[in-house]
Amino acid sequence: MKKKVVAYSRVRKPAQEKLTEKFDLRVYPYGTELTDENFKKDLQDAEGYIGLEKNIDDEFLRHAPNLKIVSNVSVGYDNFDMEAITKHGVMATNTPDILNDTVADAIFGLLIATARRIPELDRYVKNGEWTESLPDEKFGIDVHHKTLGIIGAGRIGQVIGKRAHFGFDMDILYHNRSRKPEMEEKLNATYCEQLDDLLEASDYVCLMTPSTPETRHLMSSDQFKKMKKTAIFINGSRGATVDEAALAEALQTGEILAAGLDVFEEEPTSPDNPLLKLDNVVTTPHIGSSTDETEDNMSLLAADNVTAALEGKRPPNLLNEEVWEGKS
Ligand code: GLV
Repeated sequence: MKKKVVAYSRVRKPAQEKLTEKFDLRVYPYGTELTDENFKKDLQDAEGYIGLEKNIDDEFLRHAPNLKIVSNVSVGYDNFDMEAITKHGVMATNTPDILNDTVADAIFGLLIATARRIPELDRYVKNGEWTESLPDEKFGIDVHHKTLGIIGAGRIGQVIGKRAHFGFDMDILYHNRSRKPEMEEKLNATYCEQLDDLLEASDYVCLMTPSTPETRHLMSSDQFKKMKKTAIFINGSRGATVDEAALAEALQTGEILAAGLDVFEEEPTSPDNPLLKLDNVVTTPHIGSSTDETEDNMSLLAADNVTAALEGKRPPNLLNEEVWEGKS
């Protein structure tokens, strides 16, 4: 009998087809809850789980006592309670690296869109307001030759830096737990051990750090106050890393110039979120990795992780080595 695998939310077709060759795949759409009888029943004897956006915690795992692996279709895994997953003896995996360039493109695009006010000016043209020479108050600010501060210089942060350095002649500052000598050498980047030093000196502050208890509300009132009044803030990490109320205040009171946000404290964000009412905020709906090619590749990698685990092999992107060590 084929082993059962439950797929949840955006697991792309090529990955579903691949999994179906070997497993009894049960697919559930975004929003399915543990109260759904079929979902609950399938989880009872599922050995694999693949998906994104759902919190995998003790309660979920108690509904799925036979799971060997939970495979996230995402590099960030703040939706995983790693302690609970490991306690249940379940392997956890994510999808690093294959999305780096795609996310960097999206975040850099958001930065340019915010600096040059592209969405606002798109509305201006489409609303028929372009009836005279563009008024000065609609002008944006330059990106090239400015200073970009990257908070969280992991793999994605570094490819954002690469675009900034080679494409836009920007000076790069970075703040990270550890120094990145390669980034300093290749991108002429300067390490800021203190976050405040980066905030004070940057024209663009790009937040790319993972969401952990330590990075929760890393950017709040004090941090926005440290930024230049002419600076732009970009969030490409997770909503939890930013105190949204403090950000809205900083934008309203002119502590900072503008913000580009791909992620929100609550997703999907509510239409009532005060940030959405501000002209100096540009938003995208968490699209960092959302291109057809990259979403397919992430789903396929996540499927490979499931397959390896259920065939008794070490999944390539294992996050909790201790579970594997306990097994082999
Ligand atoms: C996207 O946000 C990811 O973590 O893969």
